Amino acid sequence: MISHVLPTYNRASLAFERGEGAWAIATDGTRYLDLGAGIAVNVLGHAHPDLVAALTRQAGKIWHVSNLYQIPEQEKLADMLVDKTFADTVFFTNSGTEAAELAIKMVRKFWDAAAQPDRIEILTFEGAFHGRSTGAIAAAGSEKLVAGFGPLMPGFRQLPWGDMEALKAAISDKTAAVLIEPVQGEGGIRPIADEDLREIRALCDKTGALLVLDEVQSGMGRTGRLFAHEYAGIVPDIMMVAKGIGGGFPLGAVLASEKAAGPMSAGTHGSTYGGNPLACAVGATVMDIVADDAFLAEVGRKAALMRQKLEGLVASHPDVFESVRGQGLMLGLKCKVSPVKLVEAGYAQHILTVPAADNTLRLLPPLNIDDDEIAEAVARLDRAADGLDA
Ligand SMILES: Cc1ncc(COP(=O)(O)O)c(C=O)c1O
Repeated sequence: MISHVLPTYNRASLAFERGEGAWAIATDGTRYLDLGAGIAVNVLGHAHPDLVAALTRQAGKIWHVSNLYQIPEQEKLADMLVDKTFADTVFFTNSGTEAAELAIKMVRKFWDAAAQPDRIEILTFEGAFHGRSTGAIAAAGSEKLVAGFGPLMPGFRQLPWGDMEALKAAISDKTAAVLIEPVQGEGGIRPIADEDLREIRALCDKTGALLVLDEVQSGMGRTGRLFAHEYAGIVPDIMMVAKGIGGGFPLGAVLASEKAAGPMSAGTHGSTYGGNPLACAVGATVMDIVADDAFLAEVGRKAALMRQKLEGLVASHPDVFESVRGQGLMLGLKCKVSPVKLVEAGYAQHILTVPAADNTLRLLPPLNIDDDEIAEAVARLDRAADGLDA
């Protein structure tokens, strides 16, 4: 008999009832060091007092207001995002998938308004993940995501990851956009080289194609900059954000330049819940903390510490691990064994991690994890790997 909850997830037999910072506490009272952070969502860990205060303060005032009316909390958060990024305008969603949908619609609308309605081809990359809607799975194109869900939305072409020659051959003045994660998350924590991202920007400028960045996983301080593309010194035309922006409250956003967003006039897009006062009150508090230069510098320092310790871990388990990769606190351990086995061995050591494609174990701690917790996490991973050594 089918379970009452649609069985689309492979769930571990673990349930959590509380969280404190980097720790998730299971229903049996066991404390797990949480290096998954809800897959890069809980950027400030669990039950951060400022976020709890922002949410409860707003909950006592007003929860939901239709986008038929002005929403001051939404305007405040949009102002903060515009102030700190390339963007001139922001649309709020509830998830990364919805951000992907709008990004795709915005690209189509842009070319329609430019009297080139047939210019719909968006170049994407193998290993990409942009969500689970019909548009987002067509964009990523992997067999795992699309099998059984055809016919797919047309207008996407996947290119090999990191193959700039393939991109140069594919892009033309008929290309609508290039859509890329600056650091692939689900694809296995694979950062694109800064010089390649700069070249992609230049190719977009040359052909007129829009550059759409998916920073749903890499954004909101995860890499040590507010957004990962800042390392390359470029700006996109459109950017998808979600996960960390709500610190655990469902919130996403599409940020765009005035040029890219211009044709999105009243009535062209909408959402019942997107940008509701609760989400935006929390989001503004997340931004207050995370977009601060001193906070981001600390992320960079802790990332360097963690990376150094992980290099030591890899060296001491050559049969289990191959290498460390990633940027900031978006880290991956390329494994020689199945990363799923490591995740399970981690449960026995009371540490939470996340598997990814390309045989990679993902480590996405809360950005406010402290030095002792980093040392403890690596010690627990070390014990988990002990059991898998050949
Ligand atoms: C890069 C990227 N884009 C989009 C999404 C989809 O976001 P959501 O699950 O919030 O719909 C994800 C989720 O893992 C992601 O990592």
